[in-house]
Amino acid sequence: MKIKKFFFNDPNIEDFYIKNGYVVIKNNIEKKFFNKISKDILEQINKIEKNFKKSKKIIDYHDVSNLIMDNFESSSNYEELIFQKKNKFIMNRLIGNDLCVLNYTALWINVPTNTNSVLNKNEHVDAWTGTGINTIFLKLLLTDCDNYNGVTVYPGTHLHGLYPVKNRTIDYKSFDIKLNKGINLALKKGDVLIWHPLLVHSTTGHSKKNKRISFTLRYTSTENDFSSQERALGYKTISVGSGNIIKRYIGNDGLQPFRIYGGSASIDKRLAKLYNKKYFSSLK
Ligand SMILES: [Fe+2]
Repeated sequence: MKIKKFFFNDPNIEDFYIKNGYVVIKNNIEKKFFNKISKDILEQINKIEKNFKKSKKIIDYHDVSNLIMDNFESSSNYEELIFQKKNKFIMNRLIGNDLCVLNYTALWINVPTNTNSVLNKNEHVDAWTGTGINTIFLKLLLTDCDNYNGVTVYPGTHLHGLYPVKNRTIDYKSFDIKLNKGINLALKKGDVLIWHPLLVHSTTGHSKKNKRISFTLRYTSTENDFSSQERALGYKTISVGSGNIIKRYIGNDGLQPFRIYGGSASIDKRLAKLYNKKYFSSLK
């Protein structure tokens, strides 16, 4: 089945996302930058694999991901990744301009031999594991999927509300639930999959020979209520909405009048990226 893929500026992205609970975007990362980070991550994985082979220890890919992300998340490449223009543009459309990315972005390495249940997931919804219902997931594929190691989505299931769960599995029995056949998204590297935290989805399965490597970022609005987990993880702000730019101009949430009356508003240089500097007459 042919996968429907959009370009970032397609006006039908919202419609498709609202109806289906997911959307796939093609080429959403600047090409040169994408090649740089995917090469960097793949090289790191290869290096760690070689070291494990030498030491004859069994490799746990969940640990490998965490090892890589501990460094990557504090690098300039990560900063560049979360400020990628096309991703930001789409998330501003789906969530609003008060936009942030939750900390602890995940790197997923799905390998043929893997049996780790964290990496090999049956049908589930991400709201079960503490993601707020206003948070949106974005998976960036660093490698091509084949027909066996993609992500399977069940379109429209987010519109049913929160699926009941028992022992980490949908409780099909109590409610006599039957899922329609899912869509196997065998995505290509550079593709971006966006989905709703109530959408039922799963790991399609495992390839006999190929790895599937991807980042999963979580976006939400700084104006939303955060779940307890999201508060604990913290976030990085990507853009500020007009209401909050106005408050910044006034100077404080208490709206103390005339703070800059007869003068001018200014903004710290480091904050210029967030608070569109053109609204402020000088930079501190
Ligand atoms: Fe998931």
